[in-house]
Amino acid sequence: MKRFIFLLIPAMLLIGCKQASVSSPDHRLSVSFRLTNEGAPQYCVTRDKDVAVDWSSLGLVCEEADMTKGFTQLGLSHRKHHSRWETVWGEEHWITDCHNEMEVRLQHSSGIVMHVEFRVFNDGFAFRYVFPEQAQRPLTITDECSEYRFAKAAQAWSIPWKTEYYEGLWSKAPLMEKTDTMCSPVTLEFADGTYGFVHEAALTDYPAQNLYCKDGALRIHLTPWLDPAAQVMHVKAYETVPFVSPWRMVIMTQTLPELVASRIMLNLNAPCALDDTSWIRPMKFLGIWWGMHLKTMTWEQGPLHGATTKNMERYMRFAKAHGIEAVLAEGWNKGWEDWKHFSFVEPYSDWNMDYLSGLSKDLGVQIIGHNETGGNAADYENGLDETYMYHAKHCIHAIKTGYVSPIIRTRDGLQLNKGQSGVRHYRTVIETAAKYRIAIDNHEPVMPTGLQRTYPNLMTQEGVRGQEWNAWSTDGGSPCEHVTVLPYTRILAGPVDYTPGVFEFTNAVIPGTRVHSTLMNQLGLFVCFYSPLQMVCDLPENYLKHPDAFRFIEQVPCDWERSLLVDGAIGDFCIYARQGRGSQDWYIGGITDEEARVAKVPLSFLDDGKAYTLTLWRDGDEAEWQQHPYAYEIETRTVRSGDTLVIPMASGGGFAAWLHPDKPEGN
Ligand code: NOJ
Repeated sequence: MKRFIFLLIPAMLLIGCKQASVSSPDHRLSVSFRLTNEGAPQYCVTRDKDVAVDWSSLGLVCEEADMTKGFTQLGLSHRKHHSRWETVWGEEHWITDCHNEMEVRLQHSSGIVMHVEFRVFNDGFAFRYVFPEQAQRPLTITDECSEYRFAKAAQAWSIPWKTEYYEGLWSKAPLMEKTDTMCSPVTLEFADGTYGFVHEAALTDYPAQNLYCKDGALRIHLTPWLDPAAQVMHVKAYETVPFVSPWRMVIMTQTLPELVASRIMLNLNAPCALDDTSWIRPMKFLGIWWGMHLKTMTWEQGPLHGATTKNMERYMRFAKAHGIEAVLAEGWNKGWEDWKHFSFVEPYSDWNMDYLSGLSKDLGVQIIGHNETGGNAADYENGLDETYMYHAKHCIHAIKTGYVSPIIRTRDGLQLNKGQSGVRHYRTVIETAAKYRIAIDNHEPVMPTGLQRTYPNLMTQEGVRGQEWNAWSTDGGSPCEHVTVLPYTRILAGPVDYTPGVFEFTNAVIPGTRVHSTLMNQLGLFVCFYSPLQMVCDLPENYLKHPDAFRFIEQVPCDWERSLLVDGAIGDFCIYARQGRGSQDWYIGGITDEEARVAKVPLSFLDDGKAYTLTLWRDGDEAEWQQHPYAYEIETRTVRSGDTLVIPMASGGGFAAWLHPDKPEGN
């Protein structure tokens, strides 16, 4: 009897609660909101009338007030939205934003007014907390209590939240058995064969979210502030009303192609804030870079110095000859001896900036600058205007930034880079860079959340266990599976500077460490991994060993009209087809894990009735990543939209294809 009463009381507390709902434009997904008798805000989600997310908590705990309960409802409004917007660059030229919105206006017993805004799309939902104009007051947030009580069991792909710079191998386990706190995002494979992606959007002045499981719910753990002794504080965010939290977002789709095609995250970010974006150019780039990771070159000046005028000129002329738009140079500036005091305006004496910027203009090959801060974000921020003025004066319109340090020194002292202070720093960098017409490739970033819609000069970011690990990781290099997980996990959060394109797989840095792929897998990455600044990472001399394979890299664009996942399975394989922006040409890339497979690619995306010349780069019959990584074949033939390509992929292998429409006869 006692047990019965115990169960009944919480249920009775809810009797009489008012509910409000909003459905997706196709009416299949529906979000409901209610306040319990204690005034605690909750939501639930149904799909096709089945519960998808059971009643889950909302709210914030602040030093000033416990805003997880004690609310009364002031009002409610609904709004429909349908628009289409043009991307500056992207996986798609045009994006449709079609959603229904519900705003629930609440007042807390402390007097604070808080709105919960919900948006429901056909492929997912999102909500955020809005503190509108009212008496100004601080809010010291110590916890966020938003949670997701998924009704169906799911397998989750994630990395632990303490993974340095997000550079870990993703692992899969039943969601509720994940005992570690995880980084956001988390990708879900539900037991009924559907998919989910839990992340956040529009993170601009708040700590990054992490996720953990407790009592049957997936909950949010905000990255904390550190105190002056670099110890974790209980404070997560310092805000002042009015303020708006980032969006909490869940993509929910029936299929994997629908999951990767979801544009909810971009739609939840504010439209472009820049008046002129004509100077922002998607580019492939070579770099004085891989040599340093192979230890055949050094960043610092000395006999093996990589970034010399002579070397840079060689790379730039090679880039020009092969149609690659830009060259990155790391180690051109003073400070690499101790990684403590980098200058971003003083080159080493063997780097002639004036000469190279003149050469850049003459050749039409851009220089990509490099600003490694060694984690000293405060010094970097203090000198940003001078640094960017210097780069702009030398016609450098893209910079790779870096923050190699487990915790960074911001204007607020030592902090976690994904804490609120780090998030503010990265945003200041992007906003300042935009003023000087500089695009950013940010390494050691906070996980992307779609900010590139607002600031398209934020072109790409690391936040991934990238190719460089295959040069020096003591675990032998990333397993073949790694690249077949990323398109469905990290890359759904935004463009990735993974740095594909290694053409020579063994190296002497750590004996036994190597790239776990075939040459064709490296080509496939240029289509499967999206980045509008796409590095072509190997040494020029290695590309000359396989010039006919390099032809695909010369040819493939990094800005797209349309993108389609043709087929795939998380951690097994990925096949993408993408149409070049403003072009009739299509490119297809395939990658597989250690298992050899046969890819089947129906060409139904091609224009009906047109003939296309297909050039296919595929694994050779004897290819496999360990013994025969360099075996490949190139085939050319005519194809049409009714055809299906059947392409063998070797163990660790892949393929790349270019389809160019034939001129109609008589032209
Ligand atoms: C780590 C970055 O990921 C890598 O690309 C860069 O070369 C080094 N830091 C040096 O800045």
